[in-house]
Order: sequence, then C-alpha cells, then structure tokens
Amino acid sequence: KLRLAVLTSGGDSAGMNAVVRAIVKTAILKGCETYVVREGYEGLVRGNSEAVSVASPPREHNHHQRKESLLVEGDADSFVHNLRFGDGELLRDGTSDHPAGRTLKGRYIVRVGWDDVRGWFTSGGTLIGTARSVAFRTYEGRLTAAHNLIKEGIDAIAVCGGDGSLTGADVFRAEWPKLVAELASTSRITEEQHKAHAHLRIVGLVGSIDNDMSMTDLTIGAPTALHRICEAIDNIDSTASSHSRAFVLEVMGRHCGWLALLAGVSGGADFIFIPERPPEADPWEDEMCRNIQRHREIGKRKTIVIVAEGAHDKHLTPIRADYVKEVLSERLGLDTRVTTLGHTQRGGRPCAFDRILPTLQGVEAVDALLEATPDTPSYMIGIAENKITRVPLMEAVKMTNEVTQAIKDKDFDKAMSLRDPEFRE
Ligand code: F6P
Repeated sequence: KLRLAVLTSGGDSAGMNAVVRAIVKTAILKGCETYVVREGYEGLVRGNSEAVSVASPPREHNHHQRKESLLVEGDADSFVHNLRFGDGELLRDGTSDHPAGRTLKGRYIVRVGWDDVRGWFTSGGTLIGTARSVAFRTYEGRLTAAHNLIKEGIDAIAVCGGDGSLTGADVFRAEWPKLVAELASTSRITEEQHKAHAHLRIVGLVGSIDNDMSMTDLTIGAPTALHRICEAIDNIDSTASSHSRAFVLEVMGRHCGWLALLAGVSGGADFIFIPERPPEADPWEDEMCRNIQRHREIGKRKTIVIVAEGAHDKHLTPIRADYVKEVLSERLGLDTRVTTLGHTQRGGRPCAFDRILPTLQGVEAVDALLEATPDTPSYMIGIAENKITRVPLMEAVKMTNEVTQAIKDKDFDKAMSLRDPEFRE
C-alpha cells in the first residue's frame, strides 16, 4: 500500500486546499494511505519527533466510521478546527493553549482520511499551512526530512507550490539515494527500511497566483487573483469616473506580467507596465502621456494605469506606481491616486476554476505517483490547451528560469516568446 503525503509550500494561493482534497480523496480511492505535511518543507524537517499525545480517545461511533482517519485522537471536526485556529501558535512555539490546537502539537506529518478534507473547496489559502523553510535548503535539513518520512513509512510526496518549491522537490528526489544511504550507514534506519525506501516518488502541482511557470497555461490560484484585481478595477472605475481622476494600480506577479496584462485587458486599462515588455519609447513617459491624453480627448473621464510589481523600463530601471502618479499629475494635470492591491489579490475564496483545475490535476498527480518508477523523471502536472498534462518538472523550472534570465539580459522578445510561443509583434 503506497503511503502518500501532500504538502503546500511557498506563497499560498487559492485552490491549494482543493489540491489537498483531490489528492487525499483520489489516493484513498486508489488504495493508498494518505498524509498531510503541515507547514510545507518545514514540517518535513520537524517531523513528529516532538509529538505529545494530549487528546482524548476517539468516540466509539466515530472510530468505526472513520477508520481511514487516524489523524487526531479526538473529534472528527477538530482537525479542521485545529488547522484554522491552532496552527500559527503551533509553528511559533508549540505551546498553543487552544483546546483543539493541542491535539497536533509537535506533529507535522499527519495521517488524514476522507472526512478531514470535507468542505475544503471553499477556503482560501492553505489549511495545512505553508512556510519558507530555511532548514530544508541545507543538506542536514533534507537528511532529517528523509528520516522523518521513512519513520512514517512514506514513499511518495505531492508538492503544491511555485518554481522554488518544485525545484526543492526535485533536489530532494535526486539526493534521496544518498540521504537514505547515509541514514542506514549511521544506523538511523535499518537495512530493511533502506531497501523499502530506496526511491522517493515526487510530483509537483503549481500553486501560484503569478502564473509564471513555463510549460503550463495556468497555475492554481492565478484565476482567483485575476478576478480579485478585475473586481478592484471595477470598484475603482466608478469613483474615478465620478471625480474624473486617474488611478495607478500596482499588482503582484513578481517577475511575471500575466496578472497585470490580463487585468488590464479585462478592466479596460489605459496603459499597462509589465516586466517582459517594457514600453517601446525611451524615455517612456511621453508615450504614456500621449496615449492617456488621446483617451481623455475622446471623452474618457477616468484613467487606469496598471503597474506590475516587477515592471521596469528598457534599461531595467524599476517603474514605480508613485513615480507614474507624479508623471500623470505633473505632465497632464490629472488628479491621481495610487492603489496597491497587495495581499487582497492572494487571499480569499477560490473561484470555480480554482476548484476545477486542482481537482483534475490532483487526480493526475496521484496517477503519476502510482505509475512512477526509479527511471521516470519527477513530473509537474500542468494544463495545455485545456488538457491536463504531465511534463518533466525540471524542464519546466529550467524554462521558467530562462525567462527571468532573458529579462535580465534585456532580450525582451525572447522573454515574450518563452512566456507565449505564439507571441508575435
Ligand atoms: O509569488 C506570489 C507572490 O504573491 C508574488 O506575487 C509577490 O511578489 C510575493 O508572493 C509576495 O510575497 P510575500 O507574501 O512573502 O510578501
């Protein structure tokens, strides 16, 4: 029976809970034992060594119905309850005095069952927690993580995160034979355990609002973030029109302009700044002002400019929302305000597609793990032309890094065509 664990890592995104739900349910249906790792890779490193059992024993009727779920020794609902309310304290110092929080104190790799992920579609963020783990970046940290997984008998992990998290997954898998050999030679695991865990199966799912991963059309969480921005533009529109004002909106996306570009298209923006395609004109201020002036002359009462947080000019000098505001106010005399949408773009209830995509990809991820052999690469589950795909994880990460490099090299045509092979001038 394959023992399969799922974790979420890096910045949270809407749809991560749907990933966990889909993987847990599919894996159970396919005969696996299922686990979640709390707090991303940090939880792998911490493992269950500090475990203390303080919860009450399961109630009779629950015990029978929920034999798949050994995760908390207490009430069925306390798992979700615990994750929602006990989690932060647990990670900080392990001394949560929340009654439900205590049940998972010191336990990061937790057995879960069918009911534990019930209703997880509608929650934003990630209920099993995420963290940017410093420890997992070190060899020692990964050695401890491997030991913790073997102690729990886990053979397969599904990681949902961005490119950094997926790179971490691949490094871990490549290093695995060395890690287990060292654990065996130092007698931390038995020869039997060494044999049984000679290989680790890993699969990646891309959870990121940025939609910055190559070899997939869409990342989990990007549609919801786009909806949020679109709604924000709609809200700003009416007040902008009322006062005949200009608004400069800064949106997230790191090195990727997808959110800014698509929000600009769906919100009818007047000008958009994205990292992959800086303005043609140099300096760009004249080009922007000419465009906006023209729009005003044909009767527009409002101006919306979208600035991706990673935007810059052709020389890679960052373009900041405050500076754009200054230009609009001083050159065009527009009454201008800046709105930075920040983390409102990332949190909150997933839209329908951020429930559908993780569900379809979760099923594929479990199949990929079940079919994995020592010779198959670690796969990333993607979507291309509306079909769920499996692509070699490292190829996707490599291509994603090439885009960032092309931007650094000021080869913007290359950056655009790597993002979108169909791109034409
Ligand atoms: O990668 C997701 C993202 O939201 C980016 O768009 C943004 O640059 C970054 O994470 C913000 O990170 P943090 O939440 O750590 O401030």
